[in-house]
Amino acid sequence: MRTIKIFDSTLRDGEQAPGYSMNLKEKISIARQLELLGIDVIEAGFAVSSPGDFASIKAISEEIKDSSVASLSRAVIKDIDYSWNAVKEAKNPHLHIFIATSDIHLQYKLKMTQEEVLERVAESVKHARNLCGSVQFSAEDATRSDRVFLRTVFQTALDNGATVINMADTVGYTTPQEMSSLVKYMKETLVSNSPFDISVHCHNDLGLAVANSLAAISAGADRVEGTINGIGERAGNAAIEEIVMNLYTRKDIYDACTKIDTTRISTVSKRLAMITGVPIPPNKPIVGANMFAHESGIHQHGVMQNRQTYEIITPESIGLKENKMILGKHSGRHAFEEKLINMGYLTLTKEQIDAMFTAFKSLTDVKHTVNDKDIEALIRGTVSNVPELYSLDKYVINSGNVLSNTCNIRLMHKGKDCVDGFATGGGPIDAAFNAVNDALKMDITLIDYRIESVTGGADAQGAVSVKIKHNDKIYKGYGVNINIFEASIYAYLNAINNIFYETNL
Ligand code: KIV
Ligand code: ZN
Repeated sequence: MRTIKIFDSTLRDGEQAPGYSMNLKEKISIARQLELLGIDVIEAGFAVSSPGDFASIKAISEEIKDSSVASLSRAVIKDIDYSWNAVKEAKNPHLHIFIATSDIHLQYKLKMTQEEVLERVAESVKHARNLCGSVQFSAEDATRSDRVFLRTVFQTALDNGATVINMADTVGYTTPQEMSSLVKYMKETLVSNSPFDISVHCHNDLGLAVANSLAAISAGADRVEGTINGIGERAGNAAIEEIVMNLYTRKDIYDACTKIDTTRISTVSKRLAMITGVPIPPNKPIVGANMFAHESGIHQHGVMQNRQTYEIITPESIGLKENKMILGKHSGRHAFEEKLINMGYLTLTKEQIDAMFTAFKSLTDVKHTVNDKDIEALIRGTVSNVPELYSLDKYVINSGNVLSNTCNIRLMHKGKDCVDGFATGGGPIDAAFNAVNDALKMDITLIDYRIESVTGGADAQGAVSVKIKHNDKIYKGYGVNINIFEASIYAYLNAINNIFYETNL
């Protein structure tokens, strides 16, 4: 059976999509999860694109040992030097270079001739290979490119030392039949003195990203690229969990496996949704909440007799466990830590567990039993936590339908200096956010506000996610509390603290 390599672009192609940005700590936490999952290559970012990207690729390179760490570069020497400086401390560094190859991209975007593209490929791959032993060359919009030219581009990359050639279906245009024939054509016609991998990178505009990736595997591709939960530009990238579980479930068809520990899929998928604040659709294959839910009587009856009547994968195979340990007021730190391990959260630091345990104890004062969803909300609060430059001291909100909504607030700066604010608003939460703005005299626009109940029941915690805009950049914030006004203020302050955290990197 062949082993297919998995290249993960959650932190690059995924993170660059609107609404999915992550800060340094969040990216490191996802990278650790990807390493535990068994990903072969983690693409940690696009080093030249921003100082933040550079810093996070460097930090991930220093942290990750079991996966290769890659940085993306255009076929430009400066980009490659940035990428190399970001990944060179990694145990297994990987340089990823791309240039478009389709006529439409050459004419309108690059304004280059085919000859000029070939020169760039040769020059950039050679430069990268002098720096690093592992160099991937990707043809952007490969599936809309002239096949013979595409082959010449890949041959040039191989002649100059590329170790992987990657065909990107950048706009999700191809079909499984077409992808299969393209991979076979490259396998039959490309030549090299050294071994090289053939890889594909599929987008999901027509809903075929996973099908096209699987077709490529059947045609002989050695490696596929994708993202967790399929996040990415427009309709997203191929969802890694879907590709992996197809190979796992249909070994009879594909005769191929991966190094992925499938029992970690659920944890990493949930962690990503928590961190980005973008929920997983309930009907999402493999990781959606309805994957193992059966509503129809006929289905329920079948499942009660034998789960396989209506389930082709088991909850356990993706790491879903029935959790019998209930935590409450009397649970100690040991039980709490055991619960976290049981839920698959193996990469939390001692400081993070300390902070969560304190939050857990305060929660048990107001809530008798704390379930898995409450704990996931606490984890999200801790993982996304950045240094609290500004914190909440106290507030009073007045609201009703016979008076105007007002908020008096006192914030603490670095835990010692008081900063006061007062404001009115269209509603109590608007008044609270305006009061924070009044206290800090900052120009902030609220872009998005979402609230959800963590669990059912009258004593449920409210989890608030906000997005704010400051100096044309968007920052996320998250807060959880049994009092939804307080959860909202925490979320707003978390987003503001993120501004300072990200700008001081
Ligand atoms: O979709 C695309 O073309 C890409 C390349 C950089 C591989 O993401
Ligand atoms: Zn892409």
